[in-house]
Amino acid sequence: MNFQELTIPLTEKQKIQVFKTEKYYVHTSYGKLLDAHMGNTAFIFGFDNVHIKQKMRELQDKIAYVHCKPNEFCEENNELVAKICSKGNYAALAWAVSGSDGVECAIAMNDTYWRNLGTTKNKVICFSPGWHGTTYITRAMRKEENLDKLIILDTPNWQNSNEQEQQENSLLQQIIREISLDDNIGAIIYESIPWLRGIMPWSQNFHKKLRNICDEYKLNLILDDVMGGVGKLGEYFSFKKFGIQPDITILGKAFTGGYSPLSCACTTQKIADVIRDNHFYSHTWQPNMGGVGAALGVLDIFDEKQLYNVEKNLCEFGDLLVQKGLVEKYYCEGLIFHANTFHKIDVDRFLENKITGLGGWDLEVENVSLVAPAIADDEYFDQLTNRVIQSLEKLR
Ligand SMILES: Cc1ncc(COP(=O)(O)O)c(C=O)c1O
Repeated sequence: MNFQELTIPLTEKQKIQVFKTEKYYVHTSYGKLLDAHMGNTAFIFGFDNVHIKQKMRELQDKIAYVHCKPNEFCEENNELVAKICSKGNYAALAWAVSGSDGVECAIAMNDTYWRNLGTTKNKVICFSPGWHGTTYITRAMRKEENLDKLIILDTPNWQNSNEQEQQENSLLQQIIREISLDDNIGAIIYESIPWLRGIMPWSQNFHKKLRNICDEYKLNLILDDVMGGVGKLGEYFSFKKFGIQPDITILGKAFTGGYSPLSCACTTQKIADVIRDNHFYSHTWQPNMGGVGAALGVLDIFDEKQLYNVEKNLCEFGDLLVQKGLVEKYYCEGLIFHANTFHKIDVDRFLENKITGLGGWDLEVENVSLVAPAIADDEYFDQLTNRVIQSLEKLR
């Protein structure tokens, strides 16, 4: 029995056995399901990408392990670091294993930075509800644990664009108030695309104003791009769309196309210069070489034009849902699609229509979210359209 079965007892009928994954399908005892989340939003190049798997295997065959000593390195590792830093205009990066671990690593970098400068600015502003992971700090960031180092402000929950502007402005004012009251605040961390209550993208203005606040009060801006990065918002680094440069950005999930756990926290010259001699954030895998191979494979096939075409098709899909009166409005950017429905989501309706993952984040809301694969073709869109329309029609 695995832990999930212990916490959520299932009847035999509810259990779904997975036999095989293929492209964007999961073959199960319930039938051939279309995965509307692409393996927890990590497998955006499909479940059987030959190139990524080959790069991963080749590198593991050649070099299984590199010890993280200052004098030990390999070309492939250096190549990956150079490519990522050049894409994101960063000077250095530190490896971590999962997205949660990447967030911890980023916070550790920020702590080291302020400590090395002789300050006590180890407090971090974050927003809850939100999702940064499952480690102690990341759980504390959504109030499941207590940590004095966190200043947790409420994530806005707007219903329309007027409310969004007002609530974002009020949050920015609150941030300024907190900073003015507490000299120990050293950073703000936030998600590039909050998704816990359904996809709720920040406005362009919000990103810019947050950057301005960090510049004015000399704080580090940390972007958690685990969900939005590596193509999901249409760019490798989502901040390219926001017109800002965060001081630290965390990548994970699709970073290896999902094939191997590996994440990283990328940082600018400003921080790298201060922490380079004593940033100890070390792992057994330093980094995991299968992950390095997979991440290099992802970079080989990463194509913004392909992502743009998927976005175009997702918008047509959204237009059709609106035309048919099945959704009120939709948002689409890169591979991410979100629509406001007229009824509460019932996951069984989607399963009956052989679709898994859709709207599976918060079932109490009237919206659906999905992440399309970068390899989405005509077959994907035909299947998606038919299955989603049938499911939504049954909700009426
Ligand atoms: C924005 C964000 N940060 C961090 C994480 C944690 O990543 P992981 O599950 O790989 O630890 C997630 C996972 O969903 C995420 O969406």
